[in-house]
Amino acid sequence: MDRFSQNKDNLKVIKAHLAEDNLVAIIPPAEQIRDWAKQMPDYFPAGSNAKPSEASPEIWVDFSGFERAAAANYQAANELILAAQSGNATATRDAFKATAATCKSCHKSFRLD
Ligand code: HEC
Repeated sequence: MDRFSQNKDNLKVIKAHLAEDNLVAIIPPAEQIRDWAKQMPDYFPAGSNAKPSEASPEIWVDFSGFERAAAANYQAANELILAAQSGNATATRDAFKATAATCKSCHKSFRLD
């Protein structure tokens, strides 16, 4: 859960750097998002859904769907890193939106509100 809060902070940091066109500064937080996306499925072993978790039981009903959602997040964060490295502000903005969309789409399916 702490890692997810970190994700939220990282998105905020990235957004702030985007506003300043500071693309290089986006790379470290984007890397953190990407690395966590890779580990995420390992943090949800079957039966780990103890309170106060907001994880939906759907994760374990459709674990491959959950893994795909994590992989999509990984992919999007990776593209964000590449775009920021390329120095193309428009591509970086688009990649940022795409990354945020993969957070939302996983929450819609796999997080309780
Ligand atoms: C593959 C699915 C998935 C992806 C991708 C994902 N999340 Fe989550 N997120 C979850 C689940 C499941 C929970 C609930 C975890 C729990 O309570 O144990 C959660 C919880 C959270 C929380 C609440 C943390 C808390 O302290 O309760 C925040 C904030 C969050 N995610 C932000 C993000 C952001 C930002 C991204 C994208 C950069 C992201 N998440 C990507 C599945 C995902």
